[in-house]
Amino acid sequence: MNSIKRLSTALFALLMILAGSCSRNQAGKNDVEGRVEKLLAQMTLDEKIGQMSQLEVGMVGTEENLKKAVRDGRCGSLLNCWGVERVNELQRVAVKESRLGIPLIIGRDVIHGYRTIFPIPLGMAASWDPEIVKKAFRIAATEASSQGIKWAFAPMIDITWDPRWGRVAEGCGEDPYLASALAKAMVEGFQGDSLTDPTSIAACAKHYCGYGFPEGGRDYNTTYITEPVLRNVVLKPFKAAKDAGALSFMSAFNDLDGVPASGNEFTLKQILRKEWKFDGLVVSDWGSVPEMVVHGYATDAKDAASKAINAGVDIEMATTTYFDNIKSLLEEKKITQEEIDNSVRNILRVKFKLGLFDNPFVNPEAQKSILEPASLEHARKVARESIVLLKNVKNTLPLSTGISSVAVIGPLADSPRDQLGTWCFDGNAENSVTPLKALREVLGDKKVIFVAGLTYSRDKKTDQFSKAVAAAKKSDAVIFFGGEEWILTGEGQCRGEINLPGAQSELIAELVKTGKPVILVIMAGRPLAIGNEIDETGAVLYAWHGGTMAGPAIADLLFGKESPSGKLPITFVKGSGQIPFYYYRNNTGRPGTQQSWTPIDSIPVENPQTSLGYKSFQLDYGFTPLLPFGYGLSYTTFAYSDLSLSALSMKTDGSIVVKAKVANTGNMDGDEIVQLYIRDRVGSITRPIKELKGFKRIHIKKGESADVEFTLKGEDLAFFNGKITATEPGKFDVWVSTNSDEGLHGEFVIE
Ligand code: NOJ
Repeated sequence: MNSIKRLSTALFALLMILAGSCSRNQAGKNDVEGRVEKLLAQMTLDEKIGQMSQLEVGMVGTEENLKKAVRDGRCGSLLNCWGVERVNELQRVAVKESRLGIPLIIGRDVIHGYRTIFPIPLGMAASWDPEIVKKAFRIAATEASSQGIKWAFAPMIDITWDPRWGRVAEGCGEDPYLASALAKAMVEGFQGDSLTDPTSIAACAKHYCGYGFPEGGRDYNTTYITEPVLRNVVLKPFKAAKDAGALSFMSAFNDLDGVPASGNEFTLKQILRKEWKFDGLVVSDWGSVPEMVVHGYATDAKDAASKAINAGVDIEMATTTYFDNIKSLLEEKKITQEEIDNSVRNILRVKFKLGLFDNPFVNPEAQKSILEPASLEHARKVARESIVLLKNVKNTLPLSTGISSVAVIGPLADSPRDQLGTWCFDGNAENSVTPLKALREVLGDKKVIFVAGLTYSRDKKTDQFSKAVAAAKKSDAVIFFGGEEWILTGEGQCRGEINLPGAQSELIAELVKTGKPVILVIMAGRPLAIGNEIDETGAVLYAWHGGTMAGPAIADLLFGKESPSGKLPITFVKGSGQIPFYYYRNNTGRPGTQQSWTPIDSIPVENPQTSLGYKSFQLDYGFTPLLPFGYGLSYTTFAYSDLSLSALSMKTDGSIVVKAKVANTGNMDGDEIVQLYIRDRVGSITRPIKELKGFKRIHIKKGESADVEFTLKGEDLAFFNGKITATEPGKFDVWVSTNSDEGLHGEFVIE
């Protein structure tokens, strides 16, 4: 142990003694509400305002200023502060030197890993595996808490229908059922089995709400969402996060039907507090309180603070409208003491539940958890399960490790930072294992001929093309690693066209001309419109931004160590002009069909108008997406049979068991994600053509089969129709299937 480590361990021991002696708030340890009330009764208004104000550490200048702010009770939480010694010192100031000894809670954006970086959340969603996602979030919490972080601004569970939106990378895709299952897993992973465990950190469900529906896919933009879509789609994962015990929610930037999310009494008070009975804390997104002035919803910062407080935003992140205005707002009776006290209660409740009063300090020994081999192995597993095989003709994949040589081409083959993806502040590129490195490890240096061909994803220069083509000609197979740099997705990083950027498509076309088998590995933060590239090449693996261990995970699949098993958590469109296109769309009165579609080039010049199809399609894109939600191939094949329903009818409060057999009919063991969909044929409002209601990832050995069983409850079929949430009697379709576009079909009735 070096001397610094010894010193911080000794300091920690001292701090623990202090923590014991300074527990001025320890009476009735298990009685959180009692402790909250007792402390609240001792607090001055300034101290209450402090708890409601979150400081971003960069805002205060020097460390001394920061300590003074903590000592004075000017802030109850900090953003962007980490490190054992720094956090312990600031906590010491908070618990020993501030008047009431209220500990800080330290927050940070820990979105898909802390130092061990997992695939972007959209990638993790493609694993359809809540268990491994939960474990990934547990690892992230363990690493982050070892640095003093006790509050993660995640999970990000905004449903979106728009892949142009840069933050599509950060969420779980388009489906409320899948996103809800993952939201639960993420919250449970962060918060652990016991909130007071030193490795547990508070989750923050964000961005509440509607943020994933910005007009034109432009970040921060206006959203108009009908109440049925809000309740049946957007809010579902938030409710799941609340039910899983999420300690906090974040109010979003966007306005929803004209009311900014941070001033929205309907979503924050009516739904979150009254209907859902949420008793955790609500933090505003960064600057979203004063931005209500820019929205044109508040006259000035003071008015914005008043609106946010009255809507129920407990903590203002990074800006100071609360700090500057609460006193005068109270004097002017624009806000009430009760609102303030309720907010402070919510904040203190979270701090007590997390055990911060009893154990505010970080044990330096906990840092050993960072980048542990078992965590990296898990990152490899999650990355592997998240990769989706989009195409594989003539067994292009898997490759044999006995292959004489492969040409490794493309801007993402050896780009350690890009593979980490967006929202990754603490992961280090030097820990990334790139595909190039992993392939060299599998095949040896000599067999891998590497020519990037393009230096970065947007590169338009073609001067390396001839070298890349020469490498392809010398090799038995070509693997092209393309996609997007990390900076093309994430907050504020939206695109109008979602094709492969730069000259990647041109380079792929040149490689295809060599006649060698070309395998595409796409590493991107969004579902790209890559129809042409899929058509041209032999095999396509969609690997997202796969995190620290993306390289070995991709290599595992390229060489068939395992079979690909991910499935798309979002529909892939043919081009931006097809957006939005999601699988649970309504049928319309005139659904597009193959017979009715008139492809643009098939229409004779000066054709009479009446000869066209008059159905819902586009002349160029038709009426189907590029790839449906839930889609994903395997190196083996699965055959579905023997669908059975335990009953053909049920009451609204009853249940039906749906069973099917899935056989592995190919030549390799593999995982299949079996999906359960329903359609409510007729409703009091029109119903989606399909809705996911269950899924199971099952491992089936070659030649074997598995019986899969789902229990469908009447209550699972309830929906909000604009007035009430209810399960409506009538006829239903049910499918057990490999994706949202096909499957074994059955029917039942709700009486
Ligand atoms: C703004 C982002 O919208 C939010 O997701 C994030 O948690 C905060 N900034 C803090 O960094």
